[in-house]
Amino acid sequence: MESLLVINSSAAREGSVSRTLVEETVARLLEASPLAQVVRRDLGEAPIPHLSTTTLAGVRGVPATPAEKAARALSDELIAELRAADTIVIGAPMYNFGVTTGLRAWFDHVLRSGETFSYSEAGPKGLLIGKRVIVIESRGGLYSEGPAAAVDFQEPYLRHLLGFIGLTDVTFVHAEKIGFGPEARAAALSQAKVRIASLAEPLLSNAA
Ligand SMILES: Cc1cc2nc3c(=O)[nH]c(=O)nc-3n(C[C@H](O)[C@H](O)[C@H](O)COP(=O)(O)O)c2cc1C
Repeated sequence: MESLLVINSSAAREGSVSRTLVEETVARLLEASPLAQVVRRDLGEAPIPHLSTTTLAGVRGVPATPAEKAARALSDELIAELRAADTIVIGAPMYNFGVTTGLRAWFDHVLRSGETFSYSEAGPKGLLIGKRVIVIESRGGLYSEGPAAAVDFQEPYLRHLLGFIGLTDVTFVHAEKIGFGPEARAAALSQAKVRIASLAEPLLSNAA
């Protein structure tokens, strides 16, 4: 790993499960690659604006007004951060069965035809290749198994969005049942940390 992009999207700061696990992942990855460049984007702390009637053409048209040009500049900046990274860690809490609006606004700015995906007769093609993505999913309930699996609109959606721009090497780490009480929360955190360690272990072995 030479360049790491770290994206957080929880609207919570203290006690955020995804933030805790994102930091755990970053620490583990940096153990194997201490010289890697780290860029951070915090969509909960400093949300990027949602697309609006005054900015849409900046991302999905020809920017003309100052507001549209600013939206284009932000989109360019976010895409440049993605391009520069070989590894991307995303903190993705489940909000209302999907992703946070902050993360959704980020996707609205980085899915751009001709930049991160293209269309041809063969269909859409993702243009970001050769990158590894680790997504930390924190959820109040249990969705990886059981009856609520049918309403997990978060993970399939994230897998599709990332794949659409070429990010197909995606590993999901779950921290579930966060809303089931302190013991369930602690268990979810420790299970997720074991999983994160197992993801980083081969990198450490290679670095040794
Ligand atoms: C606005 C909001 C909506 C939420 N919606 C859901 C939901 O639909 N399903 C669920 O299991 N948990 C839901 N939760 C609980 C969060 O997924 C859980 O608290 C998770 O730990 C949040 O991530 P964080 O700790 O990194 O902030 C919601 C929490 C918030 C704040």
